[in-house]
Amino acid sequence: MRKARRAWLLFCISILTPTAMAEITVSRQVELKNLLEQDCGSCHGLTLKGGLGPALTIDAMKKKPRAVMLATISDGRPGTPMPPWKNILTAEEIAWLLDVLYKGSYREK
Ligand code: HEC
Repeated sequence: MRKARRAWLLFCISILTPTAMAEITVSRQVELKNLLEQDCGSCHGLTLKGGLGPALTIDAMKKKPRAVMLATISDGRPGTPMPPWKNILTAEEIAWLLDVLYKGSYREK
């Protein structure tokens, strides 16, 4: 009985776990981190502490709802300099970048 319950739980976890991480190759991850520093950094600051755009540091991100951030990066913010990225990056890549921001792991190389 217990074993069956545990197996069911593991099954549920396995189907609910996002697979975005696994789909992005290591070399693409390096490119995306460079993009974050160079392109996003040109407005958000090279260390993402803010510039023309707000800070995207782990402390700043903590308070921001993921769904809103996802929409902002995908579609941009009309009427502001924040451009849409959905034609340049895939949905998986945007989700991956957001994970990096929430974990504050963009500085690891
Ligand atoms: C041309 C300048 C520019 C570039 C390039 C840019 N952003 Fe932005 N971004 C902005 C501005 C300005 C805002 C604030 C918009 C507003 O006033 O609501 C913003 C907002 C955001 C927000 C929402 C932050 C918040 O506090 O609500 C996120 C997340 C974000 N940008 C991520 C990114 C990412 C990731 C990239 C690179 C893929 C990027 N931005 C590239 C200018 C830019």
